Amino acid sequence: MITGGAGSIGLATARAFVTEGAKVMIVDLNEDDLARAAAGVDAEGVVWKAADVTSSDQVDAAVREALEQFGRLDVAFANAGIFGVVAPVTDYPVDVFERVMAVNVLGSFLLAKHALRVMESGGSLIINSSVVGLTSDRAISAYATSKHALVGLMRTAAKEVAGKGIRVNALHPGPTDNDFQHAIEIEAIGASREESSKAFEQMIPLARHATSEEIAQAVVFLASDESSFMTGASLVVDGGLSI
Ligand SMILES: NC(=O)c1ccc[n+]([C@@H]2O[C@H](COP(=O)([O-])OP(=O)(O)OC[C@H]3O[C@@H](n4cnc5c(N)ncnc54)[C@H](O)[C@@H]3O)[C@@H](O)[C@H]2O)c1
Repeated sequence: MITGGAGSIGLATARAFVTEGAKVMIVDLNEDDLARAAAGVDAEGVVWKAADVTSSDQVDAAVREALEQFGRLDVAFANAGIFGVVAPVTDYPVDVFERVMAVNVLGSFLLAKHALRVMESGGSLIINSSVVGLTSDRAISAYATSKHALVGLMRTAAKEVAGKGIRVNALHPGPTDNDFQHAIEIEAIGASREESSKAFEQMIPLARHATSEEIAQAVVFLASDESSFMTGASLVVDGGLSI
């Protein structure tokens, strides 16, 4: 199950899992977006369910439906997320801060709550944090706070379910070449998409953005037996930005 599955990283991850032979449920807000996204993946491998991750009932219903469709839930990727705005703490709108915390933190908590209840030994929960779940910068207080909070959720849940043979890890992607990131860069730098993108790439040791497919491969790794002794870990996929 992948939340935010109609988005850039979520859909790339769905494709990567289907390629590995998995059956995938993508979850997102809007039915039309989900239908369009699902149409771009092997029809046999993907189903979709509209749900708002800030609603416990809706996340629970999505998990129950995945169980009905697939018989079991092996992997959950808490990926739905929003950025908020670029503003210093002193000017940051309270309602935007609350919404970012609701989607990114409560949303991931609710997936953990409902998915870990039904997972069995061998299960893997992956929580999509960010490079700014480990570092931060000016004017991104809501986003960075929410992404740091996910490390606490991941570590706590990892200890709670380790005895059942279930693993919980966090992923920390750096700037990825998609609309979500470019919108942030344009707002932060105040220049065109191309110019702000270049300014960000100058800060990244590998001097480029990630592709969504590169992030998806790290999710597949954390879901697979290749990472069988990893739990409670932060996997950084940021081109060296956090060095
Ligand atoms: N793009 C980057 O550079 C980058 C870097 C680090 C981390 N991330 C994280 O990766 C995740 C995916 O981001 P993306 O880059 O694919 O952006 P995206 O905007 O393409 O995808 C996010 C998806 O989450 C969905 N969503 C938002 N609120 C929701 C809600 N309440 N319920 C259900 N779905 C909801 C959106 O509809 C969207 O499809 C986010 O958590 C983001 O913070 C992105």
